[in-house]
Amino acid sequence: MAHGIPSLNERMAWWRQARFGMFIHYGLYSLLGRHEWVMNRERIPVDEYARLADRFTAEKCDMRHYARLAREAGQKYMVLTTKHHEGFCLWDTKLTDFKSTRAPARRDLVAEYVEAARAEGLRVGLYYSLMDWRHPDGAQCYRDEAARQRFVEYTHGLVRELMTNYGQIDVLFYDVPWPLKPNGWESTRLNHMVRTLQPQIIINDRSGWGRGGTLMPEDYDTPENHVKASPPYRDWESCDTLNHTWGYNRVDHDWKTVPQLLSMLVSCASQGGNLLLNIGPMGDGTVQPEAVARLKGIGAWLKRNGDGESIYGTERATCEWMNFAFGQSPATVRGHTMYWHVPRWYGRELTMGGMETKVLRARILSTGQEVTFKQSFEPTIRLQFGDLPESPPDPDMTVIALECDGPPVHRLGAGCVVMPDVP
Ligand code: GLC
Repeated sequence: MAHGIPSLNERMAWWRQARFGMFIHYGLYSLLGRHEWVMNRERIPVDEYARLADRFTAEKCDMRHYARLAREAGQKYMVLTTKHHEGFCLWDTKLTDFKSTRAPARRDLVAEYVEAARAEGLRVGLYYSLMDWRHPDGAQCYRDEAARQRFVEYTHGLVRELMTNYGQIDVLFYDVPWPLKPNGWESTRLNHMVRTLQPQIIINDRSGWGRGGTLMPEDYDTPENHVKASPPYRDWESCDTLNHTWGYNRVDHDWKTVPQLLSMLVSCASQGGNLLLNIGPMGDGTVQPEAVARLKGIGAWLKRNGDGESIYGTERATCEWMNFAFGQSPATVRGHTMYWHVPRWYGRELTMGGMETKVLRARILSTGQEVTFKQSFEPTIRLQFGDLPESPPDPDMTVIALECDGPPVHRLGAGCVVMPDVP
């Protein structure tokens, strides 16, 4: 605890247990259904775009429904786009009229969201885009010092409102620090204010540059649309989509399957990270049925696999190679148990190489069934199952829990088999 701010470990404790959250992209772009970058990609003039606000009724936007869906999916926290690059604020800000309370919706969606998340027992995250395509100083600030100062005050003011008016905020997810470079946003001052108002908050790595021109890495890294572990001393979270776009896109029907999404989740957990999985509600706020089905599918998998026993609060597995990129099945670890996730089922026989710790017991997580195995250490290290069920015990992804006689160590490097010297 320094100056009343809990240490990083204290602040990150719940987040490291959580492993899985919901991202929500909702704004005026949702009305068009052509990607959240539509204003920029189609070069829609500011005034023309602003008229979308007159159509923003949000009549089916039910924050409680989103929060319930997140809980059913097994997600432990949520992050809502309070202001995306378009500049439209989803709360009753005093600093602009370009906001949901002035639109026909006449609602403070941030207030509703925060309340809904808490009511469902979820942690509350707010996304805030520094880049602003609409504000007259949003681009001007790059060249014009007076514009920069005005825009920085505007930005700090908006963030201050979000940090002041809605009780405890658990996560602040900044995005895109364009166009300002070293210390243009005065991020050191900005984040100091944030931490003073919300001492327990966790801040992501996109708040731009700080004093002295150094990037502000803050509390965690945010790889996007891919899973990439940060070094062990850094926390990280992959954010990703159910189809391809963040904001509602009415022609994007290319949905990932439940097993694919589980692979992403397990891949994150196995490397010590979280997954923030996005929904992009339609213009009126309806969540597409395809999204609902997938989230419920993930939730059902977690439930039948020991209530997420192999995911929540698990640690980075010792072997970095245990991920899908290498054709392996990712493992997670908790205490003396290693959870081996098997996405493709080969039938009764299954072999895992490189399990160095003695395994005492093996059981299938979804059914509780104990399974027999043979473990050998010579001439190579192998754990062999010969009597597994013929068909996959879990249709989406089977987990085998390996109870070991110590902290599980699994290694599959070049060193697991001694290759003869090649002349
Ligand atoms: C990006 C995109 C944006 C999206 C975000 C999610 O930086 O510009 O549209 O909201 O990533 O992380």
